[in-house]
Amino acid sequence: MALGFSIGIIGSGMLGGAIAQALWHAAPQALYVANRSGKAPEIAGFPPENTLRDPQALAERCDVVILCIPPAAARNLRIEAPDALVISVMAGVPLAELPHLSGSPRVIRAMSSPAAASALAYSPWIASPAVTPQDRTRTRTLFETCGTTDEVQTESHIDLFTAMTGPVPGFVAACAAAMARHAEAEGVPPDIADRAVRQLFLAAGQMMAHGPSPQEHVDEMIAYAGTTAAGLLTLRENGFDDRMAQGLAAAAQKSREIY
Ligand SMILES: NC(=O)c1ccc[n+]([C@@H]2O[C@H](COP(=O)([O-])OP(=O)(O)OC[C@H]3O[C@@H](n4cnc5c(N)ncnc54)[C@H](OP(=O)(O)O)[C@@H]3O)[C@@H](O)[C@H]2O)c1
Repeated sequence: MALGFSIGIIGSGMLGGAIAQALWHAAPQALYVANRSGKAPEIAGFPPENTLRDPQALAERCDVVILCIPPAAARNLRIEAPDALVISVMAGVPLAELPHLSGSPRVIRAMSSPAAASALAYSPWIASPAVTPQDRTRTRTLFETCGTTDEVQTESHIDLFTAMTGPVPGFVAACAAAMARHAEAEGVPPDIADRAVRQLFLAAGQMMAHGPSPQEHVDEMIAYAGTTAAGLLTLRENGFDDRMAQGLAAAAQKSREIY
């Protein structure tokens, strides 16, 4: 057991299955998944002995329990896991609700994304007061296995990240799609426009993952005062930043109304 503790994931669909894939490489013997049907395409390769139907049975054999069922289903979920660290990655379910769902005072509300399967998720989290230093270490270890992570101190920031990073391509895809549509409107064949923006966003993502921050990249372009600067300044003058902020705020507000 490489992680040194056992983990159970209740709800092994798109997100739970992705987290399971990431963790399986780190802790194959100590990872359990549970859902009502006992199967899902995302966990098709899991050994039957690690795949349960009963969330309570999972809770009783795990040090860390991850809740990853739809928020609406969480209303009816009740497990007794008083000694477990319970981590929810469910959108919109408040931190204060988690002890009622799980029977544990040691709870964490987190966000993640299916990019976890490729260790590319960003997983911010906030902890309840009862969470111990060992719990924090375990949470960091777990989410670093899925990508990168931060502990945040304000719960509304989890709502913001639910909107911003949960649906990975979301806002980034909207930018790419707008650029592709413009290219098509200028007569570029759709397949070429599609290939161009995919390659552009792949390269941009890799450049922004390391080195200068996104804002520094933008500032460098504007300081260079070339063709990109002309476009970026026009976007800025036309309220690009405000529109993006409004979109993110609307999405975060929606996440507060889910549960
Ligand atoms: N997908 C994303 O991009 C994403 C991103 C951020 C956050 N999230 C959050 O992650 C959670 C799961 O989303 P998802 O997209 O992975 O959903 P999903 O693909 O529909 O999977 C849900 C899983 O939960 C199981 N399930 C449902 N009710 C259950 C219950 N009462 N007890 C045990 N298992 C139950 C389902 O299997 P059975 O039907 O067999 O029980 C299924 O395995 C949600 O709270 C969502 O807000 C998702």
